[in-house]
Amino acid sequence: MKDLQSFTDITRVQTSFARGLPSYHDHAQAQARIARTLADHLQIAKLQAESQNTFENVLEFGCGTGHLTRQLCNAFNIETLHLNDLVPDCATLAAPLAQNFVAGPIQDVELPRHLDLIASASTVQWIEDLPGLMHRLTDHLRPGGWLALSSFTPAHFPELATLGSGSAAPSYVTPTDWQAMLPRDIDIHHLAEAKDVIRFASPRDVLRHLRATGVNGKAEGRWTRARLSEFEDRYTEMFGDGSTVSLTYAPVWLVARKRD
Ligand SMILES: C[S@@+](CC[C@H](N)C(=O)[O-])C[C@H]1O[C@@H](n2cnc3c(N)ncnc32)[C@H](O)[C@@H]1O
Repeated sequence: MKDLQSFTDITRVQTSFARGLPSYHDHAQAQARIARTLADHLQIAKLQAESQNTFENVLEFGCGTGHLTRQLCNAFNIETLHLNDLVPDCATLAAPLAQNFVAGPIQDVELPRHLDLIASASTVQWIEDLPGLMHRLTDHLRPGGWLALSSFTPAHFPELATLGSGSAAPSYVTPTDWQAMLPRDIDIHHLAEAKDVIRFASPRDVLRHLRATGVNGKAEGRWTRARLSEFEDRYTEMFGDGSTVSLTYAPVWLVARKRD
């Protein structure tokens, strides 16, 4: 039953991101900033530890339309870049930057070995068994290899949580949660969280934004006119400032390295 549940959830997430893919790149401004910050912190940590910016063998998963891919390609000399996403259409968007693209859930696809960087932005919140994935990923890192990941904390989208939306992803983590699930041979170089508040003209624009960025994969049920109207009234009352309403992103970044 659990497998069937996981399959249904993965399919729902895939459908939601595939539908949002044509609009994702331009609407995902928060994710673009998150990806840039992740690449910046990786660059600082790598230069401090190794005084050089070359990676031989890199895997980025959940690459989407390539926000992080482009940042990595600009910041580092990468000899071989493997990309992955749940949605096969990402192959045409991000994969021209890479040597390989494999579609499918990162939990199940075959991973290259002896990686010296595994990176991913705004994706691991969709993974049900995040501790399991962290072990699987670090097993595929060579000694001295880097992990550069971003996710979201439980403070993500508080507006939607308060209003009882079913859009939350399954694995939001605090920095402390993340630290606790790392294998012992992984040293943390950077672990930080932040808030990024975006303002929209109306709650309906918030819903359009969620749909355009594909992040409503777990939202349940259909909107009836009455439900929509109640949602809009409550959203405006609780999160409005008279002319706009807020949507709060709460990213968390991890840069870590496997011991030599
Ligand atoms: C919010 S987007 C982030 C895309 C890109 N990394 C960025 O920063 O803009 C999340 C991406 O993760 C992908 N994804 C979700 N679950 C996944 C999984 N289990 N395995 C691989 N990719 C997954 C989605 O298809 C989507 O493209």
